[in-house]
Amino acid sequence: MQGVVTVIFGKQEKARDSKRVLPRHLGIIMDGNGRWAKKRGLPRTAGHTVGAANFKTITRYCASIGIEYLTVYAFSTENWKRPAEEVSALIKLFRQYLEEALRDFLDENIKVRFIGDTSVFPGEIRELIQETEKVSQNRTGMVLNIAMNYGGRDEITRAARILAEKALKGEIKPEEITEEAIAGELYTAGQPDPDLIIRPSGEQRVSNFLLWQSAYAEYIICDILWPDFKPQDLENALDEFSKRQRRFGGV
Ligand code: IPE
Ligand code: IPE
Ligand code: MG
Repeated sequence: MQGVVTVIFGKQEKARDSKRVLPRHLGIIMDGNGRWAKKRGLPRTAGHTVGAANFKTITRYCASIGIEYLTVYAFSTENWKRPAEEVSALIKLFRQYLEEALRDFLDENIKVRFIGDTSVFPGEIRELIQETEKVSQNRTGMVLNIAMNYGGRDEITRAARILAEKALKGEIKPEEITEEAIAGELYTAGQPDPDLIIRPSGEQRVSNFLLWQSAYAEYIICDILWPDFKPQDLENALDEFSKRQRRFGGV
């Protein structure tokens, strides 16, 4: 079939126009788990469990269609404000999914990285994070950044501090603190900026996600809650992205 690529994912088969432009780097704010559970009369944590399962489905799907970098927002620097039971249920889920990521994603040639200050998590989680990154570091497929205890402001502050320390030691001059130097100290150093950020759940805000990197990202907000967000919803967002005209300040 000339001009058409066929994407096979599980039982789904789709014919897509080869002219469609895919984002190289896709960001997803996985939001709406709590409301999903509330609508069903379930505790918020039930929404997180279904949301975590959906994270795996969508990650695999992204890898199968050729997304090069996927960054998912799993836990923000502000999410510690939630009730202690919810935070501990989320940490329990992280442990479970990290164990599964070690088992599953690695067979799928996905390189897993963590962005955010993970030093605050319990030792067992930190070890799993290190092991997951180490085992997958030479994988050649999609790069998956999992944002955990991540905040855009925290990330930029950290980069500023690193550069200030280098300047203080005389390793760099103040005029060498350029946009490239700052980008080079972010967790995403060396990766392209996100082209598209999708926020399910209908909230129309950034919530401290990839503040620096998203300077020219396209945003798509959709009303579907994250646990209900299907590969078809992603396809719809990708179709919309493909029609956007990006100008980066030019004409
Ligand atoms: C996103 O879903 C998951 C995390 C922030 C960890 P929420 O828990 O924010 O769900 P809503 O927004 O309350 O529905
Ligand atoms: C953003 O969602 C963080 C994650 C999805 C991990 P929040 O639910 O924390 O954002 P706000 O509080 O609605 O802005
Ligand atoms: Mg939310």
